[in-house]
Amino acid sequence: MQPQALVTGGAQGIGRAVAELLAQGGWHVTAADIDAAALTAASAQWSGIDCAALDVTSSAQVAAVLDGLPALDVVVNCAGIAAELLPLHQISRSAFEQMLRVNVGGTFILAREAARRMHKGAIINIASRGYLGGAGAAHYVASKAAVVGMTRSLAVELRWRGITVNAVAPGMVETRMIAQFTPDMRARLNRLEPAGGAMPPAAIAHAVAYLASPAGRSMTGQVLLVDGGKSLGVAPC
Ligand SMILES: NC(=O)c1ccc[n+]([C@@H]2O[C@H](COP(=O)([O-])OP(=O)(O)OC[C@H]3O[C@@H](n4cnc5c(N)ncnc54)[C@H](O)[C@@H]3O)[C@@H](O)[C@H]2O)c1
Repeated sequence: MQPQALVTGGAQGIGRAVAELLAQGGWHVTAADIDAAALTAASAQWSGIDCAALDVTSSAQVAAVLDGLPALDVVVNCAGIAAELLPLHQISRSAFEQMLRVNVGGTFILAREAARRMHKGAIINIASRGYLGGAGAAHYVASKAAVVGMTRSLAVELRWRGITVNAVAPGMVETRMIAQFTPDMRARLNRLEPAGGAMPPAAIAHAVAYLASPAGRSMTGQVLLVDGGKSLGVAPC
């Protein structure tokens, strides 16, 4: 039987690139997303990728999709939300809670439901370089730092069962998530990138494919920073 992978946030952006790369590599992929219209649009260009509409914050919906799969070898927690950059005093309590509900709660629910059903395999969580810190997105940064903490904790807990748990922390990636920025904001963000701008979603997909592969199963509890070196800081001269 083909190895089976479930990719959330699979309708577009990084999740779509992951779904397509894994499918090209011989995986049977189910792309899951809350945006049914985007899934339908993507699926018109796919063959060999199944689609599932689901909200990752619903345990029942996640469990129903997993129960419909013949097996489960890899799950990629890519569904996520971001927000416009705001100073702390402008971030509402409800925006903070929604950020944690989707980015942390969704990752938790899928990891828990997958671990209940997997025998061996890999859980790959998409965090963000932002987990290291950054102004203007305290709720997003908090959510991604929580994803990293959860990754490390689950790695210890699940390693005895042959399940690896790792995170990929992307820098700025060219998806609709960053399309919300104004041209001025975008220019300022580009200047902070060592490569001068955003990277393509495929750059992240290749890191995920490595962690899903047999070679990548020697790693667990790690955070793979795919950020062109931005996290290394600024050169002294
Ligand atoms: N684009 C970047 O610069 C960047 C950088 C670092 C990390 N990330 C992370 O990468 C992941 C993918 O982001 P992207 O840039 O591809 O954004 P995107 O908006 O293109 O894709 C995110 C997908 O998640 C889906 N989604 C949102 N809430 C959901 C829910 N409750 N249930 C199911 N699906 C849901 C959306 O419908 C969308 O298809 C996110 O976790 C994001 O935080 C992105």
